[in-house]
Amino acid sequence: MRLILLGPPSAGKGTQAEMLVKRFGLLHLATGDILREAVAAGSSLGKKAKKFMDTGALVPDAIVIGLLEGKMKSTQSQTGFLLDGFPRNQDQVKQLEGFTDIDLVLCIEVDFSKLVERAIGRRVCRTCGSVYHIKFNPPKQPGICDKDGGPLYQRDDDTEEVVKKRLKTYEDQTKPVIHYYETTGKLRYVEGDGTIEDVQNKLLAVLVEQWPQLKETAYGPMPVAKPAPAPHALKPVQPQPSQARPQGQGQPHGGGHRRGRRRRGRGKNFSRFGQKPQNKSQ
Ligand code: AP5
Repeated sequence: MRLILLGPPSAGKGTQAEMLVKRFGLLHLATGDILREAVAAGSSLGKKAKKFMDTGALVPDAIVIGLLEGKMKSTQSQTGFLLDGFPRNQDQVKQLEGFTDIDLVLCIEVDFSKLVERAIGRRVCRTCGSVYHIKFNPPKQPGICDKDGGPLYQRDDDTEEVVKKRLKTYEDQTKPVIHYYETTGKLRYVEGDGTIEDVQNKLLAVLVEQWPQLKETAYGPMPVAKPAPAPHALKPVQPQPSQARPQGQGQPHGGGHRRGRRRRGRGKNFSRFGQKPQNKSQ
């Protein structure tokens, strides 16, 4: 499964991605999370990125791609990947197309009037990154993560002013990406105004429609995480655009998440995702 998950700021991409990657054993590549890790680590790329993130602008492609490559080098998956919040402009689309095909692009649609409330009420665990909402998905104890007891914090860019700028950036730069994927026939819109569970069920329905053999994995019990497999380079995903195959049901999540920093030639490490097929199919 080679998936892209798009949608406006605070549409619920991260919330839904967390469940999808766990269920299908996918590698989760969220450029927003990767950038925040770099910021938290105080790396030079992180410092540069923060200036753009705090204003609601996109971080320059060279920084995003460099960090994404580093992440891909240090993680692994046997079943595929989910790109969350990437690509976000047309140059990023071109770069992505240079190294892999994509099976499906999911776009969560939420009424813009709801997005500011979702963003401002978001709280994130400082230690494990779990996402909550003070009203829609509150932790059992205010300010404390249910999973590991870590402190919850509010992102610097989750202010009304910055969220509005992020929405403008989305309209100007990411909407054209979505329109492009419409023309490829790979885009599926998912209505994201309902509860987290409703949206999850809609996403699963789309995936099962695309890959009927995934029905049991989609609706069966959530797999229990097992220790990561022995370290090795990302196992190539066979390029079968219309019939990607999961490796058995209930695959555990494919690996740890360690930050990578080095950037080499464009697309060099992306090839670990899988060979690009000769003939692109729709
Ligand atoms: P990023 O972190 O990707 O921000 P985003 O796209 O604005 O998305 P969010 O993380 O805000 O929201 P989400 O859709 O994941 O929603 P969530 O599940 O958390 O990027 C941040 C910045 O990094 C960008 O502005 C840019 O500067 C930079 N950047 C990132 N990628 C880049 C790229 N490719 N190129 C260049 N720059 C890049 O949910 C939000 C809240 O709503 C949570 O509190 C959640 O609990 C709640 N919620 C979720 N679902 C529901 C529901 N169904 N009902 C009610 N509440 C819900």
